Amino acid sequence: MKVDSPHVFRRTRRARSREVLRELVSETALDEGKLILPIFVHERSSKVEDIAGMPGVSRYPIGRLAERLAESVELGIRNFIFFGIPETKDSTGSGAWLESGVVQKALIEARRAFGEKITLFADTCLCEYTSHGHCGVVKGDIIDNDETLELLTRTAVSQARAGADAVAPSAMMDGQVVSIRNALDQEGFKQTLVMSYSSKFASSLYAPFRSAAESAPKFGNRRTYQMDIRNRREALREIRIDESEGADVVMVKPALPNLDIIAEARSLTDLPIAAYQVSGEYTMIKSAASMNYLDERAVVLETLISIRRAGADMIITYFADDFAKITV
Ligand code: PBG
Ligand code: ZN
Repeated sequence: MKVDSPHVFRRTRRARSREVLRELVSETALDEGKLILPIFVHERSSKVEDIAGMPGVSRYPIGRLAERLAESVELGIRNFIFFGIPETKDSTGSGAWLESGVVQKALIEARRAFGEKITLFADTCLCEYTSHGHCGVVKGDIIDNDETLELLTRTAVSQARAGADAVAPSAMMDGQVVSIRNALDQEGFKQTLVMSYSSKFASSLYAPFRSAAESAPKFGNRRTYQMDIRNRREALREIRIDESEGADVVMVKPALPNLDIIAEARSLTDLPIAAYQVSGEYTMIKSAASMNYLDERAVVLETLISIRRAGADMIITYFADDFAKITV
């Protein structure tokens, strides 16, 4: 080495030399307690149904729900978010707030079977329940914001009444958090959390989910309410607004394409941040692995850890069980 070099030679590899040392200097940890597993519940038959495009994920009838949750609980997964596929749909999505709605029944059944051992999130939206597949009330060719709020609040209150620990409004209507917070408080659900899908981008990565939930819009698209992928400042504004409206948890979705938003949100808010590794992110990894093009376990770990490193406190992921199996 030249003695008069202006450059300094630094050995960053020292701390990488052995596994125990790497563990010691590691900055990011992830365990099952940070994961939320999405569960699809349907009421069309008593059969467990496969989902095209999401190998390893199924739709469960209420009668099979407890045994499905038990599999995850045994692996250490304790947090679930429920999505419902109703028997019938209508123009307002009235199945979303029925006392005997599919998600309401699922919440009651899950609580009966597991008590306080698990936390239950309910996705609060109308698209699975509307005949047109949009997340709100359709007026001509627009989705009416303020009329939709009324239906979302009804849905959230009915989910809280059925035992949800947290409601998760995903419709991207303006004012959805404050409307739901006020309604929950008025109805006596002061302890029910609101986890808002704050920065939810209009993403092509939701396609497998939409076939699973049969919730694809029958006309147009969701670009008049979900966010434009080009906008970073606006994504942060959505988070700031949801915080001011009383959200307990804010969410960024999809996860991997939006790590920059997660990282910036981390310095913007003190609230817990959730990231949703969405259906398309799941499917990309699954299908590449099924061709032996990728090592599934390694890629699952890498993506989940990087989402955590960006700043997410919790991750909604279809890989929750797989993660638990990898790390035992
Ligand atoms: C409903 C909802 C969607 C997702 C979560 N809640 C679909 C959509 O907005 O079209 C996507 C989840 C996923 O792709 O895994 N509004
Ligand atoms: Zn929706």
